[in-house]
Amino acid sequence: MPIRLDAAFRRLPDLLALGVALAVQWRIYRELLVCLPDRKKAVQFLLLLSVAWVVVGFLPYFLFPYWGVVPWLKAGGFGWAIVSTASMILWLAWTRLLGAGRFDSGRRQALQLVRTVTLAAPAAVLGYGVVVGRRDIQLREVEIPVRNLPKDLHNLKLVQVTDIHLGPFFEPRDLERAIAMANETRAQIALVTGDLVNARRDPLQQCLQILSRLKVDGPTLGCLGNHEIHAECEREATELGKRAGIDFLRFAARTLQFGGAKLNVAGVDYQRKFEPYLVGAETLTQPGMVNILLSHNPDVFPVAVSKGYDLTVAGHTHGGQITVEILGDSANFARFYTPYIYGRYERDGKNIYVSRGLGTVGVPARVGAPPEVSLIKLCAT
Ligand SMILES: [Fe+2]
Repeated sequence: MPIRLDAAFRRLPDLLALGVALAVQWRIYRELLVCLPDRKKAVQFLLLLSVAWVVVGFLPYFLFPYWGVVPWLKAGGFGWAIVSTASMILWLAWTRLLGAGRFDSGRRQALQLVRTVTLAAPAAVLGYGVVVGRRDIQLREVEIPVRNLPKDLHNLKLVQVTDIHLGPFFEPRDLERAIAMANETRAQIALVTGDLVNARRDPLQQCLQILSRLKVDGPTLGCLGNHEIHAECEREATELGKRAGIDFLRFAARTLQFGGAKLNVAGVDYQRKFEPYLVGAETLTQPGMVNILLSHNPDVFPVAVSKGYDLTVAGHTHGGQITVEILGDSANFARFYTPYIYGRYERDGKNIYVSRGLGTVGVPARVGAPPEVSLIKLCAT
């Protein structure tokens, strides 16, 4: 069976993360040996423990992704990899910048206290992201300027829920809360832009049952994400969606009428890396109408613009999920695969909105990227 390039690419960030995590464990071991030269046995035991934790977290995910316990192992392994790497960076910065032994004993004690607090900060921040940040669902409103927008489409409201990843780390009660929030917006159209679940045995049917409670004046439309491909549930999601009143547009379009104005909404499946994007999607547009594209991954945006779409609505990045501001810019994993991480971007007068979505992948934490229900308002320019 040929290996798909995009399947290999999907594993690449995880493999890189595993490599970095193991290198960090080794570095921690070396640093501890310097600090505690007469505790070599204990330090070696710690190294063994931390390497085992990382490996037990990563390997079952590669080898047995459908074991029920794998998401928890992965969360533990990924979480420790992030915390130990961040603490290691802080430790190196601290020891290289401030050195050691150059202060009197009182000052040294104070510095040691600050150092301990600094080194514990990554664990505390990630813990906050797991316990609080992951469930801190927010409503985000954004106005999208659209050229030549008909009067009857001005202030049209589209409510978007995306990247639900219903499973152990985003539970039905969380999704119910998000749907209640979406219904309060009294939007005209609801959009569900993919990643309903994480993996094959996740509760797809329950996800669509809850999504069926979305209440808008017009239709609920959607597109499928990469996790529908990984979970091999594209056809099932489409059929269950139909029964739940959700029309997943799989290379298809719907023309909608609001007052005297028409709007065209097209949708495509997840666009695979290393293959041309949106092949033939120009045939889904309607000349003379406002054309909206639903695409799970946002990196199609420049192609969508060239094919005549006024607005692309996407998710996929989780807004970085765990993101830190460094010198006014955000640092996160999503930066490795798209420049469109979160929010509205404009190109040649056309727009994309990238939602942070609701759920999580890998580590069940959100830091600097709270889960969101997005309310998109079309506005005349
Ligand atoms: Fe996602």
